[in-house]
Amino acid sequence: MNLADLNKIACAMVAPGRGILAADESTGTIKKRFDAIGVESTEDNRRDYRELLFRSAEGMKHISGVILYDETIWQKAKDGTPLVEVIKKAGAIPGIKVDEGTKPLPFCPGEVITAGLDKLADRLPKYYEQGARFAKWRAVIDIAAGIPTHTCVWANAHALARYAALCQVNQIVPIVEPEVLMDGDHDIDRCLQVTTWVLKETFQQLYYNKVALEGMVLKPNMAIAGKKSAKKASVEEVAEKTVKMLKECVPGAVPGIAFLSGGQSDEEATAHLDAMNKIGGLPWKLTFSYGRALQAAPQKTWAGKAANVPAAQKAFTHRAEMNGLAALGQWKADLEKKAA
Ligand code: 13P
Repeated sequence: MNLADLNKIACAMVAPGRGILAADESTGTIKKRFDAIGVESTEDNRRDYRELLFRSAEGMKHISGVILYDETIWQKAKDGTPLVEVIKKAGAIPGIKVDEGTKPLPFCPGEVITAGLDKLADRLPKYYEQGARFAKWRAVIDIAAGIPTHTCVWANAHALARYAALCQVNQIVPIVEPEVLMDGDHDIDRCLQVTTWVLKETFQQLYYNKVALEGMVLKPNMAIAGKKSAKKASVEEVAEKTVKMLKECVPGAVPGIAFLSGGQSDEEATAHLDAMNKIGGLPWKLTFSYGRALQAAPQKTWAGKAANVPAAQKAFTHRAEMNGLAALGQWKADLEKKAA
């Protein structure tokens, strides 16, 4: 392992004013997204859609890296250029989702464990050869009555750390993503309590597995109320509680933290990130690694029609630009209105 090179990539992933585009929806998830806009989920349609994002020259100025799904990393653009080359030409680093989704966790009703460790040591060198310089593994923790359990938090943290160590020996920067879902009716303080637990367990396991913190990026959820909660927290409360939590849990050796959007509205995800960066004085960079909060607008605009590609690219560029500003703490709500 060359830690200096891993650190260089990790720092580039969280470079000022730039963040990560999560375009790594599994075939099942992208089908759901395409169903919502009335587009058939064929290999060509998935390629055309993702190609339009990667070819958004203006939008990609705010994107440091792109997380790809296995299918996409091997795909070629319509003109025969490998999509990985399109991404590199746009100035971004290609990355790869390497987890294989979740499976029920035995004896833990309602809880899941992320699969994919078994053949990972063989798969990583192939992804490196194909151009991937970072990877992603998502652990999923749900909040409900009686869950999460210690079994679930521990098992998922352990798997994340095993994955991260395997990435680093293969010269790939691991994005460590323990996602506490915002699906429930819990309030922000319950989210804060569970996320603190999950982050502390995750960093303990990273330590036990000898992961070099300088060569990784953390991708957490924010401290936020569940979608069905009667008590929605303000932007300031989310920002303050999330920053306080991260300071308590994330060592300063980690170069950067790139949040998932997790079902927040596009503008909320931007406003929260911006408010955190406005607090300032942080030991790590705080940026975005959004899927839905970057793609919902361009997907809707595109709707599977070639004629809509320029408008969809404009919609993507707008969200990338807004989040790029939020990563600097320079976003303002009226910039959204101007664009509308
Ligand atoms: P969302 O921003 O849509 O939550 O997706 C980010 C991601 O990569 C989840 O694994």
